[in-house]
Amino acid sequence: MAETVLVTGGAGFIGSEFVRQAVILGLRVVVIDKLSYAGDLERLASIKGKFTFYNADTTDFQRIRAIFQEVKPDIVVHFAAESHVDRSILEPFAFIDSNVKGTLNLLEASKETNLKVFVNVSTDEVYGELGSEGYFNENSAMMPNSPYSVSKAAQDMLGRSYYRTYGLPVITVRPCNNYGPWQYPEKLIPVVIYKAISGDAIPVYGKGDNVREWLYVSDCVEGILKVVEKGKPGEIYNIGSGEERKNIDVVSEICRILDRLLPGKKPYESLVTFVKDRPGHDFRYGLDSSKIERELGFKAKTPFEEGVFRTVKWYLDNRAWLENKVQFLRDFWARNYKPSENK
Ligand SMILES: NC(=O)c1ccc[n+]([C@@H]2O[C@H](COP(=O)([O-])OP(=O)(O)OC[C@H]3O[C@@H](n4cnc5c(N)ncnc54)[C@H](O)[C@@H]3O)[C@@H](O)[C@H]2O)c1
Repeated sequence: MAETVLVTGGAGFIGSEFVRQAVILGLRVVVIDKLSYAGDLERLASIKGKFTFYNADTTDFQRIRAIFQEVKPDIVVHFAAESHVDRSILEPFAFIDSNVKGTLNLLEASKETNLKVFVNVSTDEVYGELGSEGYFNENSAMMPNSPYSVSKAAQDMLGRSYYRTYGLPVITVRPCNNYGPWQYPEKLIPVVIYKAISGDAIPVYGKGDNVREWLYVSDCVEGILKVVEKGKPGEIYNIGSGEERKNIDVVSEICRILDRLLPGKKPYESLVTFVKDRPGHDFRYGLDSSKIERELGFKAKTPFEEGVFRTVKWYLDNRAWLENKVQFLRDFWARNYKPSENK
């Protein structure tokens, strides 16, 4: 019989890509998602009927425990989280609830099952920031700087403690910045695409010098599947791409692609507007991902320029979805940003 994988946050950006790939691989897939503003079952419309869905909140322990007892998962892959740094600065409480308490509930519920593996999806942001040199490996100290990254560090450490204390087969993954189709348009790449095609100013924090490592979402999921298949309980795996870019270079690349696919009167880059920097903005993240390559044979395959081209094309082809999400975001932007901040 096929193994049962329980995916939390499976209606989110990365979780839904995992669900699509897991269904293709023939796994029995069960999704738990509370369908927050960031969750959307439309991301799973192409595989409707091929997975089981529970509309549940990970912060509700009795509900989570009942689902675990009913489903009896072999594998848990835990994506459900509040995931946007800017929101964590404005509204931090939800981050501790979902990311810390939610994770604790899942780990507790897992203790009563016969799990083969619990993949705890952490992030590169737990390491804090780098200067222009060097990389974080899995033994680097955690120095998280935003309420989001602190909540993820707590999630990450809770997983470790359940391995050490209870022998639960927890494996931690720390991916870098993901991008690709279906990402909620409050994150950098879809925000830039939306603003550009709407003819609005494109906001760039500070001088756009901050550096991130960019991982195409289907590559990230392939890395996580490799961890499910071959990873060792108690271990941590960075999942990077080696594709580091300054934010301003990411924005310029998107503008160049749009100039080709949807030429306007002026180059899109003329819309770039530098705005007040995010408080506590980490300068650079960069991962040493040699462990997952060496031990599990995984290497991200999508070059940044190719992945961004596919992403821009996807948003142009799915403009109605993008517009619909932005309608909702407008209220949030209006509540939280002054017009001069142009968010
Ligand atoms: N996006 C990135 O670049 C990135 C990088 C590294 C790690 N991560 C981590 O990967 C995971 C997925 O990220 P994403 O970008 O897909 O996030 P997302 O915001 O797109 O999706 C999160 C999903 O979790 C659900 N959710 C949130 N709180 C919940 C709760 N309490 N109970 C049940 N469901 C809940 C939401 O409804 C949504 O469907 C997160 O844990 C995030 O911290 C993301």
